Amino acid sequence: MDGNGRWARQRGLMRIEGHYEGRKATRRLVEGCVWLGIPYLTIYAFSTENWSRSADEVRGILGLIEAALETEIDDLNKSNVRFTTSGRIHDLPESLQQALAAGEARTAGNTGLVLNLAINYSGRTELADACRAIAEECVAGRLSPEAITTETVAQHLYRPELPQVDLFIRPGGEMRVSNFLLWQIAYAEMYVCPLLWPDFQVEHLREAVAEFGRRERRYGGVPGEQPAPHGS
Ligand code: FPP
Repeated sequence: MDGNGRWARQRGLMRIEGHYEGRKATRRLVEGCVWLGIPYLTIYAFSTENWSRSADEVRGILGLIEAALETEIDDLNKSNVRFTTSGRIHDLPESLQQALAAGEARTAGNTGLVLNLAINYSGRTELADACRAIAEECVAGRLSPEAITTETVAQHLYRPELPQVDLFIRPGGEMRVSNFLLWQIAYAEMYVCPLLWPDFQVEHLREAVAEFGRRERRYGGVPGEQPAPHGS
């Protein structure tokens, strides 16, 4: 959800006001995904690198997320959305941790859109945490190093139940991945749009989904060819 700061600066506003406007765009995005029947949505709300911003901005973003959760959770629940989180949640302020846990508990039985909030998240941290968990299983004798496969890694991510990413939407025009879902985006289709996040509307989500529908996904293969026997 990139571009809140630039959106604010262009209007002579404080950065936090860009984040407030970004929150509205996030609500539109979630409503759009529910309406389109998209099964999974992960939004990148706060990275492990975002702690390097000013204390005011960090407090502002985390406070905004906590307040948004408290006011939006009823509507999310009514829309059959299941709310989950990815990230080092235990390092967040206590009251935010409680709000996140309450949101997850409240919507745990829902069967519609899974809305996964990446917060205090980075792809490298997630992979380091997965490596640590796998190493602990090896040390405890429950797993042998020779048995480790890509599936083992996938099972030790924060949300192993979530599928690989199909469509990666980056607003704000930057052509980079910025440490987001590094494992899960291996074959994601990238969609970079120049709009700053507060300007993102449902029609832009529709455009991204339509563009995704036009892409040919090859997963390293050649369409129409039979795969060779493994190792040949
Ligand atoms: C990146 O833009 C945005 C963030 C780090 C904060 C995102 C948070 C929200 C949109 C709040 C709403 C979230 C929820 C879950 C309700 P930036 O500040 O890096 O923008 P810039 O690149 O223009 O400086």
